[in-house]
Amino acid sequence: MGFVLKAQGFRFAHMLQSEPLCFLKEINPGEDRMSMKWILASDIDNTLTGDRSALDKLRIEIQNLRASGDLFLILSTGRRLDQVLDGFEEEGIPPADAVVSQVGTEIYLPPFERGMDPLHVWRDILMEDFSREKAMKIIDGIEGLEMQPGKFNTPLKISCYLNKAEDPEAAAAEIRRRAEYQCDGLCQVVWSSGRDLDLIPAAAGKGNAIRFVMNLQKLDADRVIVAGDSGNDRSMFDEFQCGIVVANAQTELLALKKEHPISEFYFSDREYASGVRDGLVYFQVLGETNELSIG
Ligand code: GLC
Ligand code: MG
Repeated sequence: MGFVLKAQGFRFAHMLQSEPLCFLKEINPGEDRMSMKWILASDIDNTLTGDRSALDKLRIEIQNLRASGDLFLILSTGRRLDQVLDGFEEEGIPPADAVVSQVGTEIYLPPFERGMDPLHVWRDILMEDFSREKAMKIIDGIEGLEMQPGKFNTPLKISCYLNKAEDPEAAAAEIRRRAEYQCDGLCQVVWSSGRDLDLIPAAAGKGNAIRFVMNLQKLDADRVIVAGDSGNDRSMFDEFQCGIVVANAQTELLALKKEHPISEFYFSDREYASGVRDGLVYFQVLGETNELSIG
């Protein structure tokens, strides 16, 4: 993944040169680098959500850290932007400084509004090397596969369900194998929760999109901490050193324990927002003294 993004860097620099000045100002306000103590890039579903009272408490602490200028919050999700906005209103999801949505194929910067366009520059980079038509051939004829509803399928994301396949793991493995041989490394397979399979451009994904936001915003941090529960979060753990895995995580994310033995990943024994909070204490973002009592 790293090399894909580095290669994209040249293209990105070139694209910026060809953008009108007003656009440059819009996407990159100010010349100076922004320095933060922490960047928290967190998944939403079953990482922040799942225990509303724990999330309500965590939201206040995150809000305080953001207000004091110490923390930059990136929500990094498989959801569409409108579902994230619903989450702000109805599910207690904390307000964020950036949203990486649709499994890292779209990026949004504030102010967030319904119907707004994702960041064009990210979309254009991804579009350049992705063919939905070609990628669709990879899933052709897989038995038991069902396409997800149209609203979850975009020009940059093919999403289907495999839970009705006789052996979902074997079907996912077959799709991975085909992607490797048929796609010239231009698309990646994201397999989550024994149900959801996404085909997205190789340069997309949550980890790459977060790195892109950091470069775009000239954002530095003493520590980038990622948090997640399932397969579509894996690219964040591949890209960054510090990560929180909540106790309710899916096996594909728990497998990180064996695969990255030297990384600083924290496997909480608490679930959902309580697990995220526990990880933030481990990484000394939050103090033990405010320990939550989760009922
Ligand atoms: C979200 C998306 C879905 C995707 C899944 C896993 O649920 O809506 O399209 O397959 O995340 O990435
Ligand atoms: Mg999740």
